[in-house]
Amino acid sequence: MKDSIIENLIDLERKRQIEGIELIASENFVSTDVLQAMGSVLTNKYAEGLPQKRYYGGCDVVDEIENLARDRAKKIFNAEWVNVQPHSGSQANAAAMMAVVKPGDTIMGFDLAHGGHLTHGSKVSFSGQIYKAIPYGLDPKKEILDMDEIESIALNQRPKLIICGGSAYSREWDFKRFRDIADKIGSYLMGDIAHIAGLEARDIMVLSKTLGFDDGNNPNFDKMLPHNERGYGPNSALKYCHFVTTTTHKTLRGPRGGMILVGKDFENLNGIKTKKGRTKMISELLDSAVFPGTQGGPLMHVIAAKAVAFNENLQPGFLTYIDQVKLNAQKLAEEFQKRNYRIVSGGTDNHLLLIDLTDIDITGNLAEKSLENAGISINKNLIPFDTKSPFVTSGIRIGTPAITTRGLKEDDMVRIVDFIDKILNNHDNEKNLKNIKLEIKQWMSVFPLFQE
Ligand SMILES: Cc1ncc(COP(=O)(O)O)c(C=O)c1O
Repeated sequence: MKDSIIENLIDLERKRQIEGIELIASENFVSTDVLQAMGSVLTNKYAEGLPQKRYYGGCDVVDEIENLARDRAKKIFNAEWVNVQPHSGSQANAAAMMAVVKPGDTIMGFDLAHGGHLTHGSKVSFSGQIYKAIPYGLDPKKEILDMDEIESIALNQRPKLIICGGSAYSREWDFKRFRDIADKIGSYLMGDIAHIAGLEARDIMVLSKTLGFDDGNNPNFDKMLPHNERGYGPNSALKYCHFVTTTTHKTLRGPRGGMILVGKDFENLNGIKTKKGRTKMISELLDSAVFPGTQGGPLMHVIAAKAVAFNENLQPGFLTYIDQVKLNAQKLAEEFQKRNYRIVSGGTDNHLLLIDLTDIDITGNLAEKSLENAGISINKNLIPFDTKSPFVTSGIRIGTPAITTRGLKEDDMVRIVDFIDKILNNHDNEKNLKNIKLEIKQWMSVFPLFQE
């Protein structure tokens, strides 16, 4: 690279990733193929519009790429329709909301302070400024979603859109119950599966007859029954939500980006019609909300990288990977609990856990810094009903997608918890942190990360 300053910084970041333990729940390590697609000549191409309906010439090749990405995503999620163009999860959410609600309409989303995402109605995001946002939260004792309370808020406030999904919630979402509530008030239900997309993908693929994973040899198959004729799991976002948004870079292990999916296409609930008087399908509204509604030209290099990642998701190895992601998260939770750490909601059903640090008298902020100084990346996080600010916090969020990609298994989780425990209990001892950092570097060299 001619720009030696940037080259040097990229090298430093590569070194950081190789030498440390990556526990940020929203991060992962992509394959070399995904990296190559992202760093390709496709970045030069403008392709506003959709395949075969572009506003630019020279799109034959990128059309083929986008069609592949769409076909693969549909196969993974058993979806009738997908748009793979959103530049990010937030863009996907902005477009999905624009498709179904108008400025000033009421929307209802999971409270940011309890584990929701900014784009689900926070005042600092477009979603809380353009729409009238009503939050729902967790039961203070059980720290799980209080579905009766959610139903009562929905029946009172009658939002036009209910959003489910979050960024720091370690328990299952009852998508079916959410859909029942949405149907009672005639509102749309949007599932934001940015975090759990890989888990949802795994469940659908295990059940999907087209992929042949239900041939009787899959030890997980029986556990997933019963499944319906379209091959969704019993509590699938794709099955119960009107539409689903996601990022592609978390548990799906693809490039940074977003997409919107519909399990089964349908006529939009608001009765919006074409000029000729036909009621538009929800997929048509969503397509227009992505472009020209909220975006310009799609990032074709990223869409190619999404296609590569989706093909990787379709391999049986991905199912094993996701199973290990969950096993690792459960093991981490167990090990922390053995050492008397309080896990919010008592455990995890997915790839992440929230730890309340109040009892060991260290803030999330200080924990994040101390762990970083010893080579471990996590993020500070509000716990439900936190009394501290989002810059300080009483908790930390830990996730297993990246370390599982790296090849770590349950036994390794014990060692990780040992390290974290030692660091948090001795966080002002610089020498101790330095020694641990060295030990981690040596340990991580056993798990090679990038092909040279
Ligand atoms: C649930 C959820 N939705 C949306 C997003 C936004 O994704 P992005 O950072 O790609 O805009 C995130 C990111 O963390 C998320 O957790």
